[in-house]
Amino acid sequence: MNIDGRPWRTIGLEPNGRSVWVIDQTALPYSFGTKTLSSCQQAAEAISTMVVRGAPLIGVTGAYGLMLALQADPSDSALATAHALLLSTRPTAVNLQWALDRVRDLVMALPPEQRAEAARQEAARIADEDVAMCEAIGEHGLKLFQQLAAARPAERQSEPFQVLTHCNAGWLATVDWGTALAPIYKAHRAGLNIHVWVDETRPRNQGASLTAFELGREGVPHTVIVDNAGGHLMQHGQVDAVIVGTDRTTSRGDVCNKIGTYLKALAAHDNQVPFYVALPASTIDWTLADGVAEVPIEARSPREVSHIQDLALIPEGSPAFNPAFDVTPARLVTALITERGVAAASEAGLRGLYGTVA
Ligand code: MRU
Repeated sequence: MNIDGRPWRTIGLEPNGRSVWVIDQTALPYSFGTKTLSSCQQAAEAISTMVVRGAPLIGVTGAYGLMLALQADPSDSALATAHALLLSTRPTAVNLQWALDRVRDLVMALPPEQRAEAARQEAARIADEDVAMCEAIGEHGLKLFQQLAAARPAERQSEPFQVLTHCNAGWLATVDWGTALAPIYKAHRAGLNIHVWVDETRPRNQGASLTAFELGREGVPHTVIVDNAGGHLMQHGQVDAVIVGTDRTTSRGDVCNKIGTYLKALAAHDNQVPFYVALPASTIDWTLADGVAEVPIEARSPREVSHIQDLALIPEGSPAFNPAFDVTPARLVTALITERGVAAASEAGLRGLYGTVA
């Protein structure tokens, strides 16, 4: 996507061909700049401190992290250590394990001296595939939005098509385009009169800091709301559709996404507002079925809840708890929007798109 007229991805190789640059998302929205990662440890730290975040992007960063590790030491044991270190950074998004396994399995079959270059090529392929999948999600979502907008009553046709989103599932969460925001960008570029309600997304404020930044730079009309406002807006007919991303989608279509997503799905269900989840294939965990019982939920530092920067929000001595994700059961999801098309959130829906072996 464009920043000040220049097209950007979120990650790439530095001109030296060995280090990796990433957009530093902890500095947004105040300043836009990149950080250089020159070692596997730095890649792991960038993921755990959320310099990079969003399921697809942490997968690609993990893949490049293995390349950095192999540049330093291409042995089997160094590869295993780096894989374990990178995997330990964030437990919920399955994309991380998917990308790490993909690179590891490829390079294991090669002699050590070829491994770093093979990892570089594979990481670049994963990044390019992510861009293509996200753009395809955007095309499928665009058609859906156009149909939903056209199906509104005649007296509402002149009003903006109102979409609500939670967290940041835009281009900053991926390599380019985003998942949930890709249909929004496509719709805006296609001339659909669209407006986005942006949940601020406590405690890290990915909506307020990142989604609002992205939408603003792309010129998409939007309004930031507190996380608890969505239900009220839905009750008053001010939301035509909800669209979010997912960090892990089970084989039966349960989706795990940023904490608070489940409450949006409940409110949408109660108000007959369609609730869509946008995802690339790399987010599907075919080994899990029951998302609530089986998806590992990251618990992050309580300090993210109790403080903003260094300012305490809660009384000294009050404990805080910070589960970073929740699971929305498939029954609350109207449809999944994937790079292969739109499907029911169910095993049959997913198998219809991906077949029996994904
Ligand atoms: O903790 P984060 O910021 O990494 O959480 C990100 C999300 O919850 C996104 O919605 C998810 O990764 C899907 S992104 C394309």
